[in-house]
Amino acid sequence: MGDTVIDMACGTGLNFPLLQKAVGPGGGIVGVDLTDAMLARAQDRINANGWTNVSLVQADAAGFDFPAEVDAILSTYALPQVPECAEVIAHGTAALSAGGRWAVLDLKLPGSTPGWLTQLGTATVRPFASIDEWIMRRPWEAIRAAM
Ligand SMILES: C[S@@+](CC[C@H](N)C(=O)[O-])C[C@H]1O[C@@H](n2cnc3c(N)ncnc32)[C@H](O)[C@@H]1O
Repeated sequence: MGDTVIDMACGTGLNFPLLQKAVGPGGGIVGVDLTDAMLARAQDRINANGWTNVSLVQADAAGFDFPAEVDAILSTYALPQVPECAEVIAHGTAALSAGGRWAVLDLKLPGSTPGWLTQLGTATVRPFASIDEWIMRRPWEAIRAAM
């Protein structure tokens, strides 16, 4: 309660209701995203809920200037899309207060699945998404290295 959290690449603000429960009215949420249409939806969500402790910033994660002494940074289903993913994590880590936390939720290839099935899955998705880059960027490893 009372913490300040950054939701990096917040999209439409789907995480905001849960973050509100965690930080309470005395805390704050900063939602950052590159895409104006996503932020417009996030602003609708803020307005609909009457939240006064959420601010939105349109920025590329790669160039975002993290405010100092942030208590937590969250990013869900977004960082592997950012080529400078490891740098973003390093910048965020430097801005965290003592005991601050970086949390990432994202997708990885399951280790227990047969290789042929994994290859079939990635080949199916490849025409529609930059799946190879997504697989290569493993933000949780960058967090482990940075912290
Ligand atoms: C799959 S959505 C996830 C949104 C949200 N985190 C969620 O879980 O609902 C990915 C988001 O990353 C944002 N994004 C992609 N590249 C970005 C970048 N370089 N800097 C900031 N945001 C970026 C997109 O605009 C999009 O809103």
